[in-house]
Amino acid sequence: MPMTIGVPREVHPGERRVAATPDSVRELTKLGYEVAVESGAGQQASFSDEAYRAAGAAIVDAASLWASVDVVIKVCPPQVHPSLGVEEAALLKKHAALISFVWPAQQMTLLERLSQRGATVLAMDCVPRISRAQKLDALSSMANMAGYRAVIEAAHAFGRPFAGQITAAGKIPPARVLVIGAGVAGLAAIGAVRSLGAVVRAFDTRPVVRQQIESLGAEFLTVEIEEDGNGGGGYAKEMSPAFIEAEMKLFAEQAREVDIIITTALIPGKPAPRLLEADTVALMRPGSVVVDLAAEQGGNCVLTVPGESVTHQGVTVVGYTDLPSRMAAQSSQLYATNIRHLLTELTPGKDGQLVVDMDDEMIRGATVLHQGDVTWPPPLKTLPPPAPAAEVPAPAEPAEPPSRTGTTLIALVIGAIALLGLGAVAPPAFMAHFTVFVLAIFVGYQVVWNVTAALHTPLMSVTNAISGIIVVGALVQLGKLSLVTAIIAGAAVLIATINIAGGFLVTQRMLKMFQRD
Ligand code: NAI
Repeated sequence: MPMTIGVPREVHPGERRVAATPDSVRELTKLGYEVAVESGAGQQASFSDEAYRAAGAAIVDAASLWASVDVVIKVCPPQVHPSLGVEEAALLKKHAALISFVWPAQQMTLLERLSQRGATVLAMDCVPRISRAQKLDALSSMANMAGYRAVIEAAHAFGRPFAGQITAAGKIPPARVLVIGAGVAGLAAIGAVRSLGAVVRAFDTRPVVRQQIESLGAEFLTVEIEEDGNGGGGYAKEMSPAFIEAEMKLFAEQAREVDIIITTALIPGKPAPRLLEADTVALMRPGSVVVDLAAEQGGNCVLTVPGESVTHQGVTVVGYTDLPSRMAAQSSQLYATNIRHLLTELTPGKDGQLVVDMDDEMIRGATVLHQGDVTWPPPLKTLPPPAPAAEVPAPAEPAEPPSRTGTTLIALVIGAIALLGLGAVAPPAFMAHFTVFVLAIFVGYQVVWNVTAALHTPLMSVTNAISGIIVVGALVQLGKLSLVTAIIAGAAVLIATINIAGGFLVTQRMLKMFQRD
């Protein structure tokens, strides 16, 4: 019997997103599942019941959905259902599975409730940030939406265009924007601000993001204190008080110059760092805007009121906590795709049966409850303990590895002797070409074998240039009367041309990956 996946309507006040779209429902049915969608679940994200029905879902009411489905997929953590008057966790069928944002660190009571139901719970916010898991990284896809929307909110509250203009009625200077924190949301904000034509500068405690900031066309700001904010796994660590003081001084200087500050600084599991004091905001010109994406974690700005937009001495401080939900259709589509990828991983047989493989690093990380047992936080990966010294047999003296330089030297000497021997008997014209040939092989070998994989694209353009020279040389030889020369030259032209055409084709494909439609 295939399992049924249920998509309830989100009951969190103001939440417009939905965990499945008609497209993702189609994909879920291909995995062998049956899908039930609560009537009206996608309404606020512009997905009608008819569209879900056409995609193969059954449309049901809330009570029967919660009571019957084997896997519930949703956006927000379960909470009290306003119309049914019960905790959603209590509505979940016994031993069913739940996939949603959970935030286990703040939701221990919820975990206990779900544990009593014998539930298996996968938290979208606990998916480890490893390359393999990128396609199900809902934190990133939602942060991307939030960063973009923050710019739109700023533009809405700001009384001027972002791009500079020269009109008959006067000159409009471009808006100046400061982005604090260049994680996923910050980088999305920089991209959106740039596309609207404003000037952007950005600051982050992790120097590794400098290149990403600059590649988006923003200026990377620095402070005099050197301290790397990298806390591992791409996340930031808490900075020293001296560093925070230095960056706050920088922001106070910037506040006099910029029109908009978008602040996204966060440290996992900690309250957001306080970076903008009231007197810093007071330095901004009236009409300026601060958008605080850290509002939910306490805010980077002391004036932020979570969920609201307030004005302080003419400066608007936006603290909305529902930025992805304000673009419900797109956010739902991304989130539904993340969930669908997770379900693909959980359904190896494509037979509508959920398999939670606790040996899989990605699944293990996301699973916070397994058949009622709390499995959060996942165990830290530790190295096996060293064996007790007494039991370790004395290591044998490692054999001296043959010296690489020595071997190369011997090969060179042998090569030189062979070349000299050949030179004694061969005609001088042959020797000139032969020496070039041997050197070409040597250089070619060194180029290809010593270049790291990351540099293979520039290498390809170099080999294209070399192939071009080969074609020219071979074309010159083609005119010669000797048949053998002509055949060899013809083959050289053919092979080098294939190499050139192939090189361009691969480069074109790679460039396409970075092109916008
Ligand atoms: P986040 O939302 O936790 O933090 C936002 C930004 O605030 C970070 O860039 C952080 O360095 C910065 N920040 C913290 N304290 C600050 C301070 N005092 N002043 C200024 N900036 C401060 O981070 P997010 O966006 O969730 O991800 C951060 C990074 O994680 C990404 O840039 C990326 O490198 C990595 N990542 C890796 C993924 C993967 O699959 N390998 C997926 C997603 C992100």
